[in-house]
Amino acid sequence: MDKVVALCKRRGFVFPGSEIYGGLANSWDYGPLGVELKNNIKQAWWKRFVQLREDIVGIDAALVMNPKVWEASGHIANFTDPLVECKKCHGRFRADQISEGICPGCGAKDSFTGERMFNLMFKTFIGPAEESSNTAYFRPETAQAMFVDFRSVLDTTRMRIPFGIAQIGKAFRNEITPGNFIFRTREFEQMEIEYFIPPPQNDSDWQGVFEHWKKEMVSWIRDDLGADMSKVHEQEIEAADRAHYSKRTVDFEYDFPFGTSELYGLAYRTDFDLQNHQKFSGQNLSYRDPDSGEEFIPHVIEPTWGVDRSVLVALLSAYCEKEGKVILKLRPKLAPFKAAVFPLLANKPELAALARKIYLDLKADFMIAWDDRGNIGKRYASQDEIGTPFCITVDFQSLEDKMVTVRDRDSAKQDRVKIEEIKNYLAQRI
Ligand code: GAP
Repeated sequence: MDKVVALCKRRGFVFPGSEIYGGLANSWDYGPLGVELKNNIKQAWWKRFVQLREDIVGIDAALVMNPKVWEASGHIANFTDPLVECKKCHGRFRADQISEGICPGCGAKDSFTGERMFNLMFKTFIGPAEESSNTAYFRPETAQAMFVDFRSVLDTTRMRIPFGIAQIGKAFRNEITPGNFIFRTREFEQMEIEYFIPPPQNDSDWQGVFEHWKKEMVSWIRDDLGADMSKVHEQEIEAADRAHYSKRTVDFEYDFPFGTSELYGLAYRTDFDLQNHQKFSGQNLSYRDPDSGEEFIPHVIEPTWGVDRSVLVALLSAYCEKEGKVILKLRPKLAPFKAAVFPLLANKPELAALARKIYLDLKADFMIAWDDRGNIGKRYASQDEIGTPFCITVDFQSLEDKMVTVRDRDSAKQDRVKIEEIKNYLAQRI
């Protein structure tokens, strides 16, 4: 973990937030390479689950919603963690994470205050007056917008049940114990789908959809994220530990260096949310089947993915060391740069001119790096460390035969490729 955090800081994937002011505990900023990796993850997800499917549409909703949303969703009453305070060091901790009564802050034994429930939602005020009547909340999950906008999506599209609404966006939780780099923060991003189905006649009706989404999530983790699958486990969540809305939850856990913890989740939310929003808003949120005329409140299967945990798992799974050098074996689709272009010698104008032309031409279609410093070995090492899958070297021979050397990050194998073929070559290999 320390090595990945150091690499992130050294190469500009992720650095501490507000660093010139001494930082802000557990806040992190994505740098030039990190934002590319994160955007590539979000784009791969959107392509796979929205653009390539006919049964899912996307939305992008406001972060601050009408406060009644959180009454209806049960978050005001139930979105809480048990909090205790150490009477010696005054550190605050989640009661369910204390072991044998020992304070994780100062080591004191049995020095805690009684447990109280702490609501994790971030409060704010709408407008210039800070009054309780103006209190609003930053959304703690993106999901609620999919329920609140359900009627509008039905009215403006031709979606027929079963169908899903997807969203990628920020969520905020005033976590008692954030930590482990970008694993648990107070501000993070989610990628969520609410998949609406008819009210099940029996358990196998919803269980079939649940199983479908389980397979979809495994396939995303393996094929898109490129996670080390020996570290991924499914965990059935017991009723007592499930969120207030869930009839069944399966977590996808990952063996992080700091322990096995939740990566993603899959829940059967029943009709809990739509029923409550119908009740609290007084609006009709039922669906009328165009064939049978039957009207019902749909049930929901919810697969949910954390973006920041996806970034962390992509980095941890890709991190390798060979002969003391770091190689980040990211899926080419996720890598910040798809290729780097090098003129063999920087001080030969005709070489630099040809390399520059190739670089600018490729840049129109791919994220491409340029490097003309130091020797070729150093340039390869620098690109390996940030996961660039291909390095393209323009040499004296290139001026004659109009070909370049393309070196593969993982095998170190070199191919001689015609300049006019490089775009196709990269598109195919990525
Ligand atoms: N709508 C359902 C929901 O929000 P969740 O399990 O509370 O479910 C979904 O959150 C995902 O969001 C988690 O699986 C995790 O990947 C991510 N997540 C949750 N809390 C987080 C935090 N404090 N920091 C980073 N990611 C978090």
